[in-house]
Amino acid sequence: MRLKTPEIVVEPPGPKARKIIEMHTKLIATTTHDPESLPLVVERGDGVWLYDVDGNKYLDFSSSISVSNLGYPTHPEIKKVVIEMLDKLAHAAGTDFYNPYQVALAEKLVSISPGVFKKKVFFCNSGTEAIEASMKLLRHSTSRKYFIAFIGAFHGRTMGSLSLTASKTIQRRSYFPMVNGVIHVPYPNPFRNPWGVDGYEHPDELVNRVIEYIDYWIFQHIVSPDEVAGIFFEPIQGEGGYVVPPKNFFTELSKLAMNYNIMLVDDEVQMALGRTGKMFAIEHFNTIPDIIAMAKALGGGVMPIGATIFRSELDFSPGAHSNTFGGHALACMVALKTIELVQKYLPNVVKLERLFKEKLFELKERYAHVGDVRGLGLAWGIEFVRDRKTKEHDVKTRNRVLYEALRNGLVLLGCGKSSIRIAPPIIITEEEALTGLEILEVAIKNATR
Ligand SMILES: Cc1ncc(COP(=O)(O)O)c(C=O)c1O
Repeated sequence: MRLKTPEIVVEPPGPKARKIIEMHTKLIATTTHDPESLPLVVERGDGVWLYDVDGNKYLDFSSSISVSNLGYPTHPEIKKVVIEMLDKLAHAAGTDFYNPYQVALAEKLVSISPGVFKKKVFFCNSGTEAIEASMKLLRHSTSRKYFIAFIGAFHGRTMGSLSLTASKTIQRRSYFPMVNGVIHVPYPNPFRNPWGVDGYEHPDELVNRVIEYIDYWIFQHIVSPDEVAGIFFEPIQGEGGYVVPPKNFFTELSKLAMNYNIMLVDDEVQMALGRTGKMFAIEHFNTIPDIIAMAKALGGGVMPIGATIFRSELDFSPGAHSNTFGGHALACMVALKTIELVQKYLPNVVKLERLFKEKLFELKERYAHVGDVRGLGLAWGIEFVRDRKTKEHDVKTRNRVLYEALRNGLVLLGCGKSSIRIAPPIIITEEEALTGLEILEVAIKNATR
């Protein structure tokens, strides 16, 4: 039976958690941990619930960065696939030999992704690799070398994808020089953009500003459009703050790209597979990208797997790109089952979107520090400000909210400069969602009083 309420038996971090955090700090590279990291030491999971090493039980509104969309630990149907595959095949050099499992997954990805043209798939292990493959594919199969990416974007941390990433300076600091030829432009963030346009009131004006910025300022002054291979974008900026652009932005961007024969690269690493109520977030925007990069949720919260789906006019020539684990048989079959299961939960995401929208907008009405609420499906961002007029970021309150939520049994993750993201597993029930939303309100109340 699914458990109904969180249970905090000891204030986190408890004694066991403290010990592990201490050892972790000594032994493990700091990766993304910063002084604001939550002291959560996860031991196990059950559905939408996480248990820490001290026996605290939390409701999870993070899906471990939109990976565990089907919850914890392993969905029984995925467990069955894993066991079956362990009796058959886990790995057999998918990029050197052939196997039927990656063919089956590629066929599925081609059929469910937007666009009815011929496509191919490149398999890898992570989001950053799916983006690297997109960059290499574009340079390899077109004569163009430049890329456009958006300010606020997160596309990964290896040198190629990092050169596209423009989320936080700390992520880029000391890595200069990165890959040449990336030009950053403003993202149409309705709440916070360089022009001070209220993008909720005037979405067309905001969209026009961004399109004009690229078409005039970049293409007339910096690079000729016939040298630009691709425009990389996130349909909803994830690490940048769960920022949703105006509805018609991507159709306008697509027109611009088509005008100059520039490829559109849709980074769905954080949003794909059901998070927004559609398999791919770009489906909300009536736009067909030329390349789609995905990872995270594709592995069902069990296997690391990434994929780049692309128009087959683009392609690598033999030997031009490869890796060891791409096309991993077990990972592919887990991904295939994941797709089937996620499809079943899409109606749940659509149903719960209404609930989250209603409750989160109520929070905006009740708490002055809640500056902006935005989202789709089960992907919501709340941005905290010190003052609604000046929109000065309120990092302190955001951090307090994260900790207050944890103390009260709710796991949340920050994003952007002063935002939190709400991204529960898509298997969440209405009752569980309401429990989490109540704790969120308590956390905001405690953090802002
Ligand atoms: C939109 C997006 N692209 C790419 C990446 C990089 O993925 P990975 O961490 O698997 O390399 C991330 C990771 O958060 C992401 O959110």
